[in-house]
Amino acid sequence: MLTRGAWSSKAGFILAGAGSAVGLGNIWRFPYMTGDNGGAVFVLLFLICCFLIGYPVMIAELTLGRSTEKNPVGMFNKLSRGGRLWKVAGGLCVLSGFTVFSWYSVILGWVAGYLAKTVSGTFTAQLTNAEIDNVFSTFVSNVPVVVFLHALMISVTALVVSGGVEKGIERLSKWLMPILFILLILLAVRSVTLDGAIAGLTFYLYPDFSKVSGSMILQAMGQALFSLSLGMGTMITYGSYLSRKENIPASAAWITGFDILVSILAGFVILPAVAAMNQSYAQGPELIFQVLPSIFSSMPFGYFFGVGFFLLLIIAALTSAVSILEVPVSYFVDERRWSRRRSVSIVALGAFLIGTPAALSYGGVDFLTQIPGLTMGFFSLISTIFGDISLSIGAFFISIFIGWIWGVKNGLGEIESQGNAFGLRKLWSFLIRFVAPITILIVFVYSVWSSFLI
Ligand code: PHE
Repeated sequence: MLTRGAWSSKAGFILAGAGSAVGLGNIWRFPYMTGDNGGAVFVLLFLICCFLIGYPVMIAELTLGRSTEKNPVGMFNKLSRGGRLWKVAGGLCVLSGFTVFSWYSVILGWVAGYLAKTVSGTFTAQLTNAEIDNVFSTFVSNVPVVVFLHALMISVTALVVSGGVEKGIERLSKWLMPILFILLILLAVRSVTLDGAIAGLTFYLYPDFSKVSGSMILQAMGQALFSLSLGMGTMITYGSYLSRKENIPASAAWITGFDILVSILAGFVILPAVAAMNQSYAQGPELIFQVLPSIFSSMPFGYFFGVGFFLLLIIAALTSAVSILEVPVSYFVDERRWSRRRSVSIVALGAFLIGTPAALSYGGVDFLTQIPGLTMGFFSLISTIFGDISLSIGAFFISIFIGWIWGVKNGLGEIESQGNAFGLRKLWSFLIRFVAPITILIVFVYSVWSSFLI
């Protein structure tokens, strides 16, 4: 299939864009990053980064994609007229898509495992913190199970992507996002009314400015990019399917707003419950797997809430995984003239191979759990390099490209084509030319420094 698909309607596009943005980044990553980084101050910094950097970069990606109707490599190539550096930038986007997909599906596999556990009634009884901890560590170190779930999640995503843009992605996003949202509200209500939740609310809402550190600002920035699906050309690829009639700043505002709202809600679900359970906020990637089971076991109809929640989380994460996989796939389809099916199969197989050591790095295999000579496991390594770092470089290239190379004039021309007015044109131009690239540069320098030199 060489023809490009297109979004069937405006609401369809916004929902698919929100489907890409809302995923594990909001519900799994945001709460633990907030927990690791001292609570409310981090939330505040995250919000500032979303508005000052995320939103302008999202407009930039959608605009670049729509104006060329191409994947990131094709886009950079066309608009730079074959510039060398920009080939590298496009290639980096494809590489990030491939690699992020390989570890994202590992966490998707964890969620699938927790769905199965919830269905089978593991969490119906009230478990102690130590028991919940034990369920988690036994599960993640079970090699055949985590590898199987990883393969399963890759296959499901690959099936959706081989179906093409409209059919596969839009259909999934349209129905399930609103339901997930309502479920999160109900869970948040349960969580904030638990005994002892107040301390968690204070932690989450009352900023203690003495905790601000350079590293925190930079992590908030990385989280904003990851959560909004920016920096690897997902929104370039999605924009390439977007009709000229659509108002890009308005669509981007809807997607950004909804994504932020879901993250904030997820914080209200997780952090008050952490306090109520007397647990530590700073538990890293396993935080939600420690906290959710006890929320479900302590509420009426907890079994159904638990099953519903993990099911919807899988679907929300799948719509994100689909958008990640779409980047390398659209590159092979457009630039290499491979068939969609072949592109999907090869990328999925590669991602399975790269992701497997990540799946084994939580106790499955010792030298992957703790790489000799480093202070981290393979999962942390790959998700830091091809997550935070590569997304930062990608977003830096994108903002420099639209701000200085292709030029904001051309960008604004594309945004305002067909008579769409853009009230914030001056502000956007300033943010995308100066604020975004300079801040991202700081993020990048910092993350390399902190990951490898400390
Ligand atoms: N934004 C997605 C999430 O929050 C992850 C993602 C990152 C998707 C980068 C596409 C590109 O889960």
